[in-house]
Amino acid sequence: MVEIAPSILSADFARLGEEIEAAERGGASIIHVDVMDGHFVPNITIGLPVVRSLARMARVPLDTHLMISEPGRYAEQFVEAGASMVSVHVEIDPHLNRTLTGIKSHGAQAGVAINPATPLTALEEALPFADYILLMSVNPGFGGQKFIPTSLDKVRRLRRMIEARGLKTRIEIDGGIDRHNIAEVTAAGAEIIVAGTAVFGEGDPARDVRGLLDAAAQWV
Ligand code: DX5
Ligand code: ZN
Repeated sequence: MVEIAPSILSADFARLGEEIEAAERGGASIIHVDVMDGHFVPNITIGLPVVRSLARMARVPLDTHLMISEPGRYAEQFVEAGASMVSVHVEIDPHLNRTLTGIKSHGAQAGVAINPATPLTALEEALPFADYILLMSVNPGFGGQKFIPTSLDKVRRLRRMIEARGLKTRIEIDGGIDRHNIAEVTAAGAEIIVAGTAVFGEGDPARDVRGLLDAAAQWV
């Protein structure tokens, strides 16, 4: 089943609650929250207090994507703040096994995020401990970037890696997804589709989530 996870990075932060409600009305089944610290990525966004407030109002699970240094220090706090999914980047966490185990023992799904230029082999040992892999199809830090075309083949190879090991790990894809390429990425094997600009960029999130779900259904 394909799920749309709107990224609030492209929403109007002064009207976050309304924006999320509109996305939910359109059929969003996950809300993606980009946490950036200005160190791991060259941008600063939001943190624990905002997640706490959103967790009280959102009707669907919150998926926090940690683009921060020392993610192991904070991951469990995001679960306590109300996140149902927490992902940490393979490039920045030397204790991935410990972090993923901690996220799960606090009751959330644990994800490993991977940058466009990081090879899939970096995931090999962590794969059995991850509930999902967040495959970046742009360089993390900003919304509105162009989809990197080689990501399609990376999704296919990751799908094969997961199947060869008999695992149930889900694939989430993040960056540059819109109505024109969503069918291709779902056909390649991605199941959770993050979309920021394509959902919040034109002022009608409900319509645009519906549009993405329709476009994804064309090919499945
Ligand atoms: C980028 C973030 C993405 C971003 C996606 O670092 O991880 O979640 O918001 O935005 P779009 O869909 O506009 O590429
Ligand atoms: Zn993200």
